[in-house]
Amino acid sequence: MTGDPSLHFYEGNAALYAARDRRVPEHQMTRFVERLPVAARILELGCGAGGDSEALLQLGFDVTPSDGSAAMASQAERRLGRPVLVLPFQELAYEAEFDGIWANACLLHVPKGNLADVLARIAKALRPHGRFYASFKTGGTQGTDRFGRYYNRPTRDELAELCEAAGFVGVDIETVSGGAFDGEPTTWLYLHAGVA
Ligand SMILES: C[S@@+](CC[C@H](N)C(=O)[O-])C[C@H]1O[C@@H](n2cnc3c(N)ncnc32)[C@H](O)[C@@H]1O
Repeated sequence: MTGDPSLHFYEGNAALYAARDRRVPEHQMTRFVERLPVAARILELGCGAGGDSEALLQLGFDVTPSDGSAAMASQAERRLGRPVLVLPFQELAYEAEFDGIWANACLLHVPKGNLADVLARIAKALRPHGRFYASFKTGGTQGTDRFGRYYNRPTRDELAELCEAAGFVGVDIETVSGGAFDGEPTTWLYLHAGVA
């Protein structure tokens, strides 16, 4: 965690972040789960306070929640009543373990130069025909926000190219206008992809 400004923010503001008003991205979750087998094994990356893991558990999936911040993971543990892994993206080392990997608004903090490696780790962690979902902020250039969090801000084409290079197939990226924790109008990329 040392030296990662985004993780530093979540580590220091976990309770405040967990208490914010937030809705599960239902439309994206429906798209993600409809291609998964019953009781599929799902890894959530950067789970924050655990709201999406909670929704996936309620849908009957076998969910492994994780976050790179120990303070954030303990907020999620309190909500979910189950262990939450402290797992930085760059240390992901599973091989063909999961049917699905859910990564809402978290891989956007991966330094742009490390995205190819993290996406390849995600592809490797998926079982054959596994599914992957992630969301990113786009527009402007990479850099930090007023809370000191870093954002990679890929373009749609950059993200598609990185996913294909990492071995994903059927890469589908939707561009949607919305909001964010910093109160700024934000353009989001919603990425759905699979492995063969
Ligand atoms: C914007 S929050 C999103 C939380 C949750 N997914 C949601 O949609 O509400 C980003 C999350 O990513 C986690 N995170 C940031 N950098 C990380 C890293 N390098 N490895 C794992 N998690 C990280 C943070 O601790 C935080 O919980």
